[in-house]
Amino acid sequence: MSKVIDDLNEAISGESQANQHYLAFARKAAEEGYTQIAKLFRAVAKAEEIHSYNHMVASGYIKDTVENLKTAIAGENYEHSEMYPAFIEDAKAEDHKKAKLSFRWAQKVEVVHEEIYKEALASLDKEIKAFDYYVCPKCGHTHPRTRPERCPVCGISGAEYMQY
Ligand SMILES: [Fe+2]
Ligand SMILES: [Fe+2]
Repeated sequence: MSKVIDDLNEAISGESQANQHYLAFARKAAEEGYTQIAKLFRAVAKAEEIHSYNHMVASGYIKDTVENLKTAIAGENYEHSEMYPAFIEDAKAEDHKKAKLSFRWAQKVEVVHEEIYKEALASLDKEIKAFDYYVCPKCGHTHPRTRPERCPVCGISGAEYMQY
């Protein structure tokens, strides 16, 4: 393996994490009334996203859409079938209730993600009518085409789902 590819992969992880961490910090800053700091965190988060993207381009990680969908399917499958079940057991062993719930929600949603990516891969060459996806702001449950009445994972009203 090339040292530079290792470096790029490490930089992609670091920048991607920084992007997500700063967005979370921005959310907290906004809740605390620090609107300028929230702006700062969002701006730098965007810059980190750009760094991560540039590193991915340089490393050749981004393939064509068929390959990218396959990568996404494999990743979601790994998460819901191996990673989260093991993490849920760890959370139970330490009686960490917040972690257990967070892992459970993610595990259930990754099952859906695998399904909808598979559906997309299967229909890639077909003429389909455009439709939207709806995302639960609390647990991330993702629903194609329609807004569910209630989130089947965390139970909040479908009216709160975000539309993409
Ligand atoms: Fe997912
Ligand atoms: Fe939810």
